Amino acid sequence: MIQTTNWKYAQLVSLVVILFCTLSCRQAVPAKVSQKFKAVDQAGIVSAHPEATEIGLEILKAGGNAIDASIAVQFALAVCYPNAGNIGGGGFLLYRDQAGNNYSLDYREKAPAKSYETMYLDSSGNIIDGLSTQGVMAVGVPGTVDGMYAAFERFSALKDWKALVMPAVELARRGFPLTEQQAKNINSRKKTFQTVNPDYTSPFTVNRTYKKGDLFVQTDLANTMEQIAKHGRAGFYKGQVAQQLLAQMQHDKGIISQEDLDNYKSVWRDPIQFKYKNLDIYSMGPPSSGGILLAQMFQAIEPFPIKSWGFHDSRTMHLMIEAEKRAYADRATHMGDADFYPVPVAQLMDANYVRQRMSDFNMERATAPKTVTAGNVHETEETTHYCVVDKDGNAVSVTTTLNGSYGSKLLVKGAGFLLNNEMDDFSSKVGAPNMYGLVGAEANKIEPNKRMLSSMSPTIVERDGELYIVVGTPGGSTIITSVFQTILNIVEFDQRADEAVAACRFHHQWKPTAVYHEDKCLSAETMTKLNEMGHELKKRSPIGRVEAIVLKNGKLELGADPRGDDHANGY
Ligand code: DON
Repeated sequence: MIQTTNWKYAQLVSLVVILFCTLSCRQAVPAKVSQKFKAVDQAGIVSAHPEATEIGLEILKAGGNAIDASIAVQFALAVCYPNAGNIGGGGFLLYRDQAGNNYSLDYREKAPAKSYETMYLDSSGNIIDGLSTQGVMAVGVPGTVDGMYAAFERFSALKDWKALVMPAVELARRGFPLTEQQAKNINSRKKTFQTVNPDYTSPFTVNRTYKKGDLFVQTDLANTMEQIAKHGRAGFYKGQVAQQLLAQMQHDKGIISQEDLDNYKSVWRDPIQFKYKNLDIYSMGPPSSGGILLAQMFQAIEPFPIKSWGFHDSRTMHLMIEAEKRAYADRATHMGDADFYPVPVAQLMDANYVRQRMSDFNMERATAPKTVTAGNVHETEETTHYCVVDKDGNAVSVTTTLNGSYGSKLLVKGAGFLLNNEMDDFSSKVGAPNMYGLVGAEANKIEPNKRMLSSMSPTIVERDGELYIVVGTPGGSTIITSVFQTILNIVEFDQRADEAVAACRFHHQWKPTAVYHEDKCLSAETMTKLNEMGHELKKRSPIGRVEAIVLKNGKLELGADPRGDDHANGY
């Protein structure tokens, strides 16, 4: 009898525990998380695709450093993750060497010399639908191959360029098995590929419905990348590949010229650096807005006790949303390519300025976005991210993109690679939203040879002078808020790398006015309280695909986002 009572009592207790856990724990950490968790001792890579991660790992095992592995991963992604991996696009690379020096490399695309401010407007000054997003006029001068070569020349340990590119050539030639997501993705865009590339039969345009496991063979791309393997930078910007690209321009009446290809130069820039509590955070400066916005948002929330408020507590979220709102308002007005426009970087990141921006922050009420405008500063949404840490502690954080999924959808006939649609990141018209709903003005207007403003934010965090976190994500305008939240998940809410990248995300960018959040992840209580404060909440599709490596207790925690086919490995 006693036993039965105890048993019933135990059943009741476990039911309550299970119920409690399903209600409270489920929210933060999706079930798939544990499958993606790995902790390794010496070196690790996290990227959007298993083939790319494994190729990079082989380079590390062969004595390459983090830069060597990053170059190999970039080229591999151009093959096995063609919606964002690329040789026809651009990106940003952040590098912290084992001695603690930080560098950033800007290999962002540039506007062609023949571009001009109103090139996407009709005679009445209205935006011509689709011109900056699809087809030949959307394309910026690609920077990826120049960027990879610049990284190789400065920091390679292997000193063997061919060895870094050939694994991708071989992968393109033998083909790789499509994942389910990829097969669906390519099938769903078949018609667009065929419309944009009417006279080119390629694996993207061929009349075939792909399924999981089908080999995706890209012979033209293999030949193109072999030119790059043999001739380095010149294998892309000159010779056969350049001629194919220019022939495509001529055929489709595009404006990129040989002069544009000759003039393209990636640039080493000083990373943005700022402090949050005992952390030193490094991220990308202009032409990215990411580093500056992160600096603003972290400084804006620093005085508040979010750790004790808790993860996804309505007070924590309200504060973060308000910080995001003000930062994105500044982005729209003050940011563009600093080589062309005097972006007031130091002032935007100044602690007093950020404090003054938050002075109308009300703990109880959302500030109406209409009443938030850019601060008064005086002069005096497919991309991909990967992280690499090598055995010596060199770390690389790279975000690279064609902009939209498969960029402009325009393939270079015979050369097998996709061209970006990065021109849409310029502000085509003051106040008119681009494909991520971002607005801009004078600072980000189109000018020949200028780089378009970006949100890509490859980031590295140090704690007490030691490497701590390597992180980044795709997601267009949501990139910056996703990086912001992931770092806070780790440093304030004690989440493991895999939990931090998997956790539910939300996003606010001033305009549009709503706060977007992923499905089934905020508690009813948090949502009600946020609504009561005046926030307009809207559910949306998954936000970003964050990759992170966290150095903790002598191990490297590898976090690959469970939203995709992302893959972490190391040794
Ligand atoms: O540079 C930028 O901010 C955009 N071109 C990034 C695009 C992107 O992340 C798309 N991914 N989902």
